Parts: sequence; C-alpha cells; structure tokens
Amino acid sequence: MRPSTIPRSTLDTPRLRLRPTSPADAQRAFEIQTDWDVTRMLSHASFPPSLAAIRSWFSIHEKEWAEGTAYRFAIENDGHMIGIVDVDEISGSEGSLGYWLEKSSWGRGFAFEAAERLIRFVSEDIGLSRLTSGRADDNPASGHVLTKLGFINTGSKETFSNARGGNLLQQRYALVLKR
Ligand SMILES: CC(C)(COP(=O)(O)OP(=O)(O)OC[C@H]1O[C@@H](n2cnc3c(N)ncnc32)[C@H](O)[C@@H]1OP(=O)(O)O)[C@@H](O)C(=O)NCCC(=O)NCCS
Repeated sequence: MRPSTIPRSTLDTPRLRLRPTSPADAQRAFEIQTDWDVTRMLSHASFPPSLAAIRSWFSIHEKEWAEGTAYRFAIENDGHMIGIVDVDEISGSEGSLGYWLEKSSWGRGFAFEAAERLIRFVSEDIGLSRLTSGRADDNPASGHVLTKLGFINTGSKETFSNARGGNLLQQRYALVLKR
C-alpha cells in the first residue's frame, strides 16, 4: 500500500468516537486484555497479557499509519476507551478487519457501529477495495457482526492461537468494498 497522506483524525458515529491510537492507550488495552473472555478470541494476543508487549505494539501504530500498512483506532464511548477497531495487513488494495471490546460494552451494537464507520473510512478515504477477517469457530457473536457488515464466509482454516497455546479452527470472511 502506498504511504498515507490522510491526517490522523477522529471518526464519529452516533454513539462512538474512533480516535487514532496513541502509546498512552497501552495501559487501558492491557486492562481489557486481562479478561480471558476477550483475549482468547484474538489471533495474536498472549495470555496473561504483557504490558511491555502491548506498549511495543502501540508504539508502532503512528508509523504504520504513515506507511499505509494499518489504520488502528481506539473506540470511545462517552470519553471512555472501550476497545480497538483496526484494518491492518494492508497490501495492495486489501486489508484485514479486527476489533475487540471490554466485556461490559458487549451486546449494545458497538462493534458493528465502529466497524461500519472504519470500513467507510478505508473504502472512501484510503481507497481499499477488499477486506478479509477471521473469527474463532466458537465466536458466533463476531460471526454475526461480520455477516451484518456484509462479509461472506469463505471457508475455514486451522490457526495457531498464542492465548490458547494451540491450534483453533478459524472461520474466514471477505467483503468487497463499494466506493
Ligand atoms: C465480538 C465482539 C467484538 C462483539 O461486540 P459487540 O459490540 O457485542 O457486537 P454487536 O453488539 O455489534 O453485535 C453482536 C451481535 O452478535 C449477536 N450475538 C451475541 N452473542 C451471540 C451468540 N452466542 N451467537 C450468535 N449471535 C450472537 C448479538 O445478538 C448481536 O447481533 P444483533 O445486533 O443482530 O442483535 C465482542 O464480543 C468482543 O470484543 N469479544 C472479544 C474479542 C473478540 O471476539 N474480537 C473479535 C475477534 S474475531
């Protein structure tokens, strides 16, 4: 993907503010990932979480944005950070959608609302034309979010989960973006 000239600015939805992440978000992200019910569903996270590893991850987000390889946002509700939504692994005009929320914010449509806004951003402002995503086979809520967003199930594959310390079956999805 070509380097991004898009400014790092916030995206708003009716109930949420998506704010480009900063290194200062690491502590809050660490707190959210201390919940096994959150972290066991993530592809790369480890459990228990490491604050040093999370700090290191957040420290490269601004560079990723500038290079056009990932666009990562803290999701805020009433000024409180409740999770992350991002498109990463950008190559050519394709990227990968991910999201995770603190458990007390589940079940209110926030993941859908945040992801829908980010999809509009990467389509209209960045010019991506296709997104992929994946969810653990035992994560039907995420599957529901993806199909509501218009993603199509494209099959499944075995993937190693750091948090679980073993392989899990991942359902794969794709979405063609219309501009
Ligand atoms: C997956 C996750 C992001 C969903 O967030 P959320 O804000 O609760 O999602 P939404 O409210 O937008 O939508 C959830 C949908 O799944 C449905 N759902 C919830 N549990 C479900 C289940 N067990 N089976 C099927 N559908 C389910 C809800 O009814 C809702 O659908 P609706 O809007 O049509 O009523 C959140 O649970 C989370 O952060 N989990 C841990 C991390 C994670 O799994 N990240 C995604 C990795 S692929």
